[in-house]
Amino acid sequence: MNINYITPLKSHKPLKLPNRLIYGNGSQFRMVDLSIGRYIGKIKITPTELKKSKFYQNDKPIKSLYINDLWIVPFFRKKNAGSDFIKFAKHLSKKNGCEGRIYTLAYNYDNPGKAPHKFWRKQGFASASQKENQILDFIIENNIEVPPDMCQGTMMYI
Ligand SMILES: CC(C)(COP(=O)(O)OP(=O)(O)OC[C@H]1O[C@@H](n2cnc3c(N)ncnc32)[C@H](O)[C@@H]1OP(=O)(O)O)[C@@H](O)C(=O)NCCC(=O)NCCS
Repeated sequence: MNINYITPLKSHKPLKLPNRLIYGNGSQFRMVDLSIGRYIGKIKITPTELKKSKFYQNDKPIKSLYINDLWIVPFFRKKNAGSDFIKFAKHLSKKNGCEGRIYTLAYNYDNPGKAPHKFWRKQGFASASQKENQILDFIIENNIEVPPDMCQGTMMYI
């Protein structure tokens, strides 16, 4: 009688999962905290061709990754989830042929009075207007609120 004996698998270390996991379909992504099983936030992106951009000063069309939507659950804000999404968006920009370029409209549709500009500026984004960049740097340094005229929405690029 033949006995097939299968060698037991070598014991492997358990797979270490990251605390934060991002998953999605190529244009919309969600982040979850696996350690507590909670939804953290979402990002939506669209690789876009810009014919002429004051910021990039391109004479031929170039691609940049547009962030349509970035939203973090209020409980998880100021815990680096937004920054983690931006790191991920930089990767997506390269993957989508945008060579690291990203842009967005800095505007808090959730709460128009609470402008997210300082967040974008801290991630390295800039407006095409040097004056607006100086204002943002000044208000970050001096812990001042974003001026109301900029709260209407500012295009910011990287
Ligand atoms: C804006 C938003 C995405 C930031 O996400 P977050 O996870 O809270 O940001 P992080 O924790 O990664 O913050 C990174 C830095 O930006 C600062 N920051 C984040 N949001 C800020 C805000 N609204 N105002 C000022 N600074 C802000 C943080 O204090 C932190 O600064 P530090 O590096 O000096 O400590 C999040 O607050 C949000 O979802 N807001 C509502 C929707 C929105 O405005 N989305 C953007 C649409 S353009």
